[in-house]
Amino acid sequence: MNIKLLRGRVLNFISEPTSIDDESSYAFFEDGAVVIHDGLITDYGDYSSLVTAHQNSEVIDHRPHLILPGFIDTHLHFPQMQVIGSFGTKLLDWLNKYTFIEEQKFSDPEHCKRIAKQLFDTLLRHGTTTGVAYCSVHKTSAEAFFQEAENRNLRMIAGKVMMDRNAPEPLCDTPQSSYDNSKALIEKWHGRGRASYAITPRFAITSTPTQLEMTKALMQEYPDCYMQTHLSENHAEIELTKELYQSARDYLDVYEMYDLLGEKSLFGHCIHLNDRERQAMAETKSVAVFCPTSNLFLGSGLFDQDGLQAHGVRTAVATDIGGGTSYSMLKTLDEAYKILQLRNQTLNPLKSFYMMTLGNARALSMQDKIGTLGKGTEADIVILNSNATPAMQLRMETVETLSEELFVLQTMGDDRAISSVYVAGKNQHPDY
Ligand code: GUN
Ligand code: ZN
Repeated sequence: MNIKLLRGRVLNFISEPTSIDDESSYAFFEDGAVVIHDGLITDYGDYSSLVTAHQNSEVIDHRPHLILPGFIDTHLHFPQMQVIGSFGTKLLDWLNKYTFIEEQKFSDPEHCKRIAKQLFDTLLRHGTTTGVAYCSVHKTSAEAFFQEAENRNLRMIAGKVMMDRNAPEPLCDTPQSSYDNSKALIEKWHGRGRASYAITPRFAITSTPTQLEMTKALMQEYPDCYMQTHLSENHAEIELTKELYQSARDYLDVYEMYDLLGEKSLFGHCIHLNDRERQAMAETKSVAVFCPTSNLFLGSGLFDQDGLQAHGVRTAVATDIGGGTSYSMLKTLDEAYKILQLRNQTLNPLKSFYMMTLGNARALSMQDKIGTLGKGTEADIVILNSNATPAMQLRMETVETLSEELFVLQTMGDDRAISSVYVAGKNQHPDY
């Protein structure tokens, strides 16, 4: 029997932490272990009792590092790895000047394959084991993404973007081709191994009403798929959307007119929503995805976490590579904290780590599979070193509580703090 015991300081969230000292929201074992059998977690708890119960297991000792569920990034762009750090623009100019140029390279299957390998190596180096990705408009980009994810047995969600206007001609599909290609990809990949499909109209500006009709048809045919798009990121974007869809009450209403809201619908950014939009998101259980490094880099605005949560809107957190500037969910939550500081809101470190793991899993309705160390879930696990750099080591000398340690990890940590990463029970760190 091939049973693995990962030994270390085990931390698993059970519910959303309400304060920095909400000990009821997590389980923590200072000398703990996670038991893995056939890629699944069969137990976790105190090392001493688990090793007695599993005498013939292989013990992998990660002490003194922390053991947590792998991080989940709920919004990123596969074809934007080489766009990160493009200077001097806000959203619409950034798209036209850099992003729509770069994404054209993904008509080449060889380029797609090369970048897909780079993407998963990079995500794993940063401790991210599940991502929700926008591919380019080209079917071949989604093929390369899903194939490489399958080769590595990664749980991934993605879709080819649907876009039929307001972009360079080589990046535009048509309502019919976007429907046909999305459908073919869904038939091939959705539910195959660990893959899920997200129907992906890029945003209202790049879709005609006819294309959004096709999106609606796809969602009705495949209600089990995700839907992802962008919403209310930047003022110029909102104005242009209103010009293009003059009968819409507001930005979200464009998507409502085509029945795109729901429990599996992910809306990137959601910065400048009005109360009606928040209400509609809450009623439909749609998810608002907070992308802190992107919102700062593109100067888009400050996400109103408390306002959304007060309305009962479900939220998630993400990098938004390549508007976002870091693959690290640690750095992402570091910037989230700073944005909320500017809003006079707060984000405690327990909640940050909850959001990267169980919180994002819940936003994806995948908490029975990922984002937790619970029995029967998939063994996607990250090992974190809070002493990864000399500066962190020095700071850690004064740390007394778990919450303090997590906050130092988030504030000072990045890929250097990722000591190992397991995918379905196997160490898959590209470097060690
Ligand atoms: N809105 C439409 N497309 C994009 C994109 O690629 N990045 C961001 N940040 N916003 C978008
Ligand atoms: Zn995005």
